[in-house]
Amino acid sequence: MTAKVLSFLNFKGGVGKTSTTALTSFNLAKLGYKVLTIDFDPQANLTSLFLKTKSISSNDEIITIDKALMSAVNEGTNLQNIVIPIVKNLFLIPNAVDFSMYNRFLDRNLTSEEEKIAFFRNRINPLKNTYDFIFIDVPPTISLPNDTAFFACDQIIVVLQTQERSLSGAEVLINYLQQTLIDDFHSTVDVMGILPVLSKRNAQVDEEILNSAIKEFGKENVFESKITIMERIKRMDLTGITDNDHDVWDKRVHKSFTNVAKEIIARLGVE
Ligand SMILES: Nc1ncnc2c1ncn2[C@@H]1O[C@H](COP(=O)(O)OP(=O)(O)OP(=O)(O)O)[C@@H](O)[C@H]1O
Ligand SMILES: [Mg+2]
Repeated sequence: MTAKVLSFLNFKGGVGKTSTTALTSFNLAKLGYKVLTIDFDPQANLTSLFLKTKSISSNDEIITIDKALMSAVNEGTNLQNIVIPIVKNLFLIPNAVDFSMYNRFLDRNLTSEEEKIAFFRNRINPLKNTYDFIFIDVPPTISLPNDTAFFACDQIIVVLQTQERSLSGAEVLINYLQQTLIDDFHSTVDVMGILPVLSKRNAQVDEEILNSAIKEFGKENVFESKITIMERIKRMDLTGITDNDHDVWDKRVHKSFTNVAKEIIARLGVE
C-alpha cells in the first residue's frame, strides 16, 4: 500500500478541522483502512481528543506520551517510533507545545526554500508503506510550517462553514495553494473538494452559500456529504470519541462521518 496523504483546511480558526479529521479518520479505520493521523498543531487538540478516546477503550487508563513530533524531528529519528495506537486501525503522531519551535528548526537546519518546504514530505515518506491514509491536522495559519504539511499532501479538502455568508475564505485558500505551492514550488497537491459544514440555525443562508459554492467551484467539487452542527461532537472534546451502538446521538455523528469517509474513498477511486 502507499498511503494517500490528506488534510482538511481552512485558514479560519475553530471551523471544525480537528473534529472532522478525527471523526473521518475514526470512521475510515472502522471501515478497515489503516489510518495514521498526524497532529501538526502545537495546541495539540487532536492529541488530546485521541488520548481520551484511547483511554475510554482501555478502561479509563490515563495515557501519557513520552515523545511528541518536535522531539522526533529534532532527533532525526523515524517518525514511526512515536506513533501511538488509538483504537483498531487508527494511529496518532502526537504534538505538544514545543512544536512552536519547528519554524526555527527549519530556519536553522535548512538553507534553501525548496529544502525547507520539502522537509516534512521527506520525513513522512518512509511511513507511507504502512498505512492506507495519513491525515495531517494543521493549525489555522498561513506559515512556512503549514506549507511543509501541505507540500506533503496528495489531496486537500477545504472545510467551508456555510454560515460565513461568503465564499471568500475558500477562494483565498484555493488561490494561495495554487500560487504558493503549485506555481512556486511545483507541488502536485490537488484540491479534492469542498466539504460544507452547515449551521442549520440559518438554513436559508446555508442554502444560499451552498448554491454559490456549487456555482463558483462546480457541482463535482462540492462534497455530497455534509456535516451539520451536532452537540455530541462538542461533548466529545471532553469525553473522547464515543461510539455506542445504542446511543442515537453517537450513531448520528458516525453515520455522518462514515459518509464523508466513503466519499473520500470514492473520490480517490481506491478500493
Ligand atoms: N459538526 C460540529 N458540530 C458541533 N460542534 C462542532 C462540530 N465540529 C466541531 N465542533 C466543535 O467546535 C469547536 C472547534 O472545533 P475544532 O477544534 O475541530 O476546530 P478547528 O478548525 O480544528 O479549530 P482550530 O482552528 O483552533 O484548530 C470544538 O469545540 C468542536 O467540538
Ligand atoms: Mg484544530
